[in-house]
Amino acid sequence: MQMNMIELIQKKKRGLEMTPTEIDWLVAGVTDGSLPDYQLSAWLMAVCFNGMTDAETLELTMAMARSGDIVDLSDLPGVKGDKHSTGGVGDKTTLIVAPVCAACGVTMAKMSGRGLGHTGGTVDKLEAIPGFTTSLDAGRFFEVVEKTGLCVVGQSGNLTPADKKLYALRDVTATVESLPLIASSIMSKKLAAGADCIVLDVKTGSGAFMKTTEDAIALARAMVDIGNGAGRTCAALVTDMERPLGLGIGNSLEVCEAVEVLRGGGPEDLREVSIALASALLRLAARREPGSFPSGVEESEAAVKKAISSGAAFDRLREMVRAQGGDDGALTDTSKLPRARSVYTVVSPSDGYIYSMDTERVGMASVLLGAGRLTQNDRIDHSTGIVLARKTGDSVSKGEVIAWLHTSDEDRAKRVETEFLKALTILRERPEDRPLLFGIVE
Ligand code: URA
Repeated sequence: MQMNMIELIQKKKRGLEMTPTEIDWLVAGVTDGSLPDYQLSAWLMAVCFNGMTDAETLELTMAMARSGDIVDLSDLPGVKGDKHSTGGVGDKTTLIVAPVCAACGVTMAKMSGRGLGHTGGTVDKLEAIPGFTTSLDAGRFFEVVEKTGLCVVGQSGNLTPADKKLYALRDVTATVESLPLIASSIMSKKLAAGADCIVLDVKTGSGAFMKTTEDAIALARAMVDIGNGAGRTCAALVTDMERPLGLGIGNSLEVCEAVEVLRGGGPEDLREVSIALASALLRLAARREPGSFPSGVEESEAAVKKAISSGAAFDRLREMVRAQGGDDGALTDTSKLPRARSVYTVVSPSDGYIYSMDTERVGMASVLLGAGRLTQNDRIDHSTGIVLARKTGDSVSKGEVIAWLHTSDEDRAKRVETEFLKALTILRERPEDRPLLFGIVE
């Protein structure tokens, strides 16, 4: 039957369910460029208003996953694991979770992204390590995984081209904020990347895409249902992004902090979220291959903590860094990582408590220092960023240091100090405690 886009727009406009054939036809038209942007934009807006059924969302995800390369990891030994965060500030958990899970026997053959807007990306952080490359050809990628059980590279060029096209259109037609569109966009990339088990970290709060916990839980549910519906084993943790994770924000600074956690120290919140994510991934692996991985919460957390305390996880990271051309000595002697020539202190303007932090604004302050990109072609300065001395809930006295800005540019430091202070609300009253983990969706 001949299909036409006007009928599909009408259908979505009336809130009717599209058939799998219709969705496949639409995605094929996105991929080969035969459907005009104005019709796709109208369809996207109709989806924003009327949503999609679970069956439609799954079909859209699968069709977008099939629109380009599908990574076939089946020749690699063991259970293949992946981890994805919806994006945060100071979120360096992949640098911890990936080597920990590899040390516990999960094969971590992983693609990661670059920073987006106010959020950081794993590929940018790893590139702070001198010599490290995140672009390996397929042959070398498989060799590194076989040798170390762990490899993290950038996204391959032709992964999910339909998502690439639709995401770019959504960006300029105010149609990003739609649960089925976000869930299918993220999950199409995860499915195409080929892992058996996927742990998702869905962030909630002022530094996250999903500002409310209710929305974050709904997104987590949708993504887990898609992953499980596609035959993968998935779980999502909903975690706090009402304040940055850990104390360091910016690429070199975050590598240092991840190394601290892998060596048994580091900030408590970062440790806790990393342990929760890694142990959740081990439990997913246990569902895939019973008997080979710990299946209970306590057992899996104990395995993760042992991988850290024994040094096994840190050794995995060192091996991966070496195998990907990096100077692994920079992980033990962090003075070998890029460092800003100067560090500027930011002091508290008043007495009281840090009542709240607009975390998106804190992330943007770090971007303004050079740790992220304002335009696509900007070059990152890996040495720059912010180290927090105080976070939400901490008491502060007027004149006391609340953060350090790492930059070699004094003018920038002055501008960023003003921006950073605008992100903070300091009151006499202490804010209520907020959980770090809001729940797990399986
Ligand atoms: N990240 C994605 O990859 N897609 C979305 O739609 C939103 C965030």
